[in-house]
Amino acid sequence: MKHVPVMLDEVMHYLSPKPEGRYIDCTFGAGGYSRKILSHAANVIAIDQDPDAKKVANDFEREFGDQFSFVQGNFADIRDLVTGKVDGIVWDLGVSSMQLDEGNRGFSFAKPAQLDMRMSQKGYSAMDFVNSASEKEIADVIFHNGGEVKAKQIAKQIVASRKESPITTTTQLADIVRKTVNRYHTKIDSATKTFQAIRIFINDELGALKKSLASAANLLKTGGKIVLVSFHSLEDKIIKDYLKANSAKKVAKSKYAKVDNSSSDAIYQLLTHKSVKPSDEEVKNNPRARSAKLRAAQKIALL
Ligand SMILES: C[S@@+](CC[C@H](N)C(=O)[O-])C[C@H]1O[C@@H](n2cnc3c(N)ncnc32)[C@H](O)[C@@H]1O
Repeated sequence: MKHVPVMLDEVMHYLSPKPEGRYIDCTFGAGGYSRKILSHAANVIAIDQDPDAKKVANDFEREFGDQFSFVQGNFADIRDLVTGKVDGIVWDLGVSSMQLDEGNRGFSFAKPAQLDMRMSQKGYSAMDFVNSASEKEIADVIFHNGGEVKAKQIAKQIVASRKESPITTTTQLADIVRKTVNRYHTKIDSATKTFQAIRIFINDELGALKKSLASAANLLKTGGKIVLVSFHSLEDKIIKDYLKANSAKKVAKSKYAKVDNSSSDAIYQLLTHKSVKPSDEEVKNNPRARSAKLRAAQKIALL
């Protein structure tokens, strides 16, 4: 299934791309955000670590010429991947529908496939992890990244199973988890939290987010904007805490409130004080949007 961009109108509202402006799309995917930014006669530098995204990007290069360029890499390295200042940066975190649906990428338990979960298609895979990490390491990952209360029991079961035979497929892992966690009373599959936790770990999703947020300010022009769409509370917490620590405090509660950045090291002014959520209609049409949260800020400092 082609990826349907989440909160596209809201993202564009906060990013407000201007003609001739330069924007970074940190998570190109199927190019939904990039295409919309390009439609404002702005320029886009798109990043994605998945080699499959390059195929879509090739079509964009043909269609948009110099207005568009693509770099295959990790947005954690954004400062090395992009030169010069930009007017805005956007992140649409997590995996795309293509990555989830493509059985052979091994992200999902919905289809039997070799356990993999690497967005970059290189390095340490989910299969390596479940077959070689210690029981404690597995439990910690599942607990901290998935909020799974039965993490210790699941890790124990994984280690017991792999002694019998290596765990090589998504369905094998899902069955091991379901044997330990039987949440038949909820609509959510018992293996969901464990799969999410391992995926976050394998792709160092939280580390990459922290690193790119820390680098973004130096790439932005003063007045430039950042817009981030996240899909689970661990990501949203990193974004919220980063923005809180680096944004000016308002001195009065009115829409004319002045920003007090005189005595602080504030880099940003918040454009969203609370996270923005998708409309009910969007969630109805695209269930993937249901957990999305958007936060945005504008750079005010001269860095
Ligand atoms: C949710 S999809 C983005 C969809 C896109 N906004 C669209 O409209 O088609 C996320 C994409 O970001 C990529 N990605 C996730 N983490 C990344 C990282 N640390 N560095 C580079 N790309 C990343 C994934 O490979 C995936 O293609």
